[in-house]
Amino acid sequence: MSTRENSEWTGIRGKIGAWLLDNPLRKRREARFLDLVLESIRGNETVLDVGAGSGFFSIPVAQKLKTGSVVCLDLSPEMLARLQKKVERLGLTDRVRIAQSEASSSGLPGESVDVVISNAVLHELPNPKAVLKEIARVLKPGGSVMIKDFNKDSLQGKIVSLFHHKDEQGPFTPNELKNCLTEMGLRDIKTIPIKGSFIATARK
Ligand SMILES: C[S@@+](CC[C@H](N)C(=O)[O-])C[C@H]1O[C@@H](n2cnc3c(N)ncnc32)[C@H](O)[C@@H]1O
Repeated sequence: MSTRENSEWTGIRGKIGAWLLDNPLRKRREARFLDLVLESIRGNETVLDVGAGSGFFSIPVAQKLKTGSVVCLDLSPEMLARLQKKVERLGLTDRVRIAQSEASSSGLPGESVDVVISNAVLHELPNPKAVLKEIARVLKPGGSVMIKDFNKDSLQGKIVSLFHHKDEQGPFTPNELKNCLTEMGLRDIKTIPIKGSFIATARK
């Protein structure tokens, strides 16, 4: 189980991880997914960022929102503390809700979210299907989901698979994730390859 006690993102590792995830060199590598996410935001949505970390994606989403809000869900208090500081510094408190929670039990009402995003989280989960089920539950009918993670078939994915924590399921192949999203009742599923990773998009 990924819990507060054994997560690789809590305690001192969480503090260092939160700092590393703010690395500006990520901008180029993450540009494709960030562009895709931002293109899908009109300004009035409720967005859920699953495993938001220190807000690499949540902050630009919040900056694009006019009347909506972004729920930043993560189990790591250290990640969320860094995110909270950024939110305050940038004057985004009215558009950001911080939720310290397990991704499989968000506590959000069913059919309350327009857009779910998640980057580099699924491979860390002991039970990614439970999290995908939760995503499908909280999405409004017609809502969209955009997930990016390592591709098990790529060299990077194979390295991640080799070294992942014994409780983590490791990366999916695009087809495996497609099948899981179908199982959760999602439709219009597409996968887009990116070096070492892939993006999966779907609708409820
Ligand atoms: C690699 S980081 C990615 C953070 C962020 N999405 C980004 O791209 O900058 C993975 C994040 O997922 C969070 N996480 C891992 N397992 C989780 C779980 N079961 N529930 C909620 N968050 C989780 C970690 O705490 C960490 O912040």
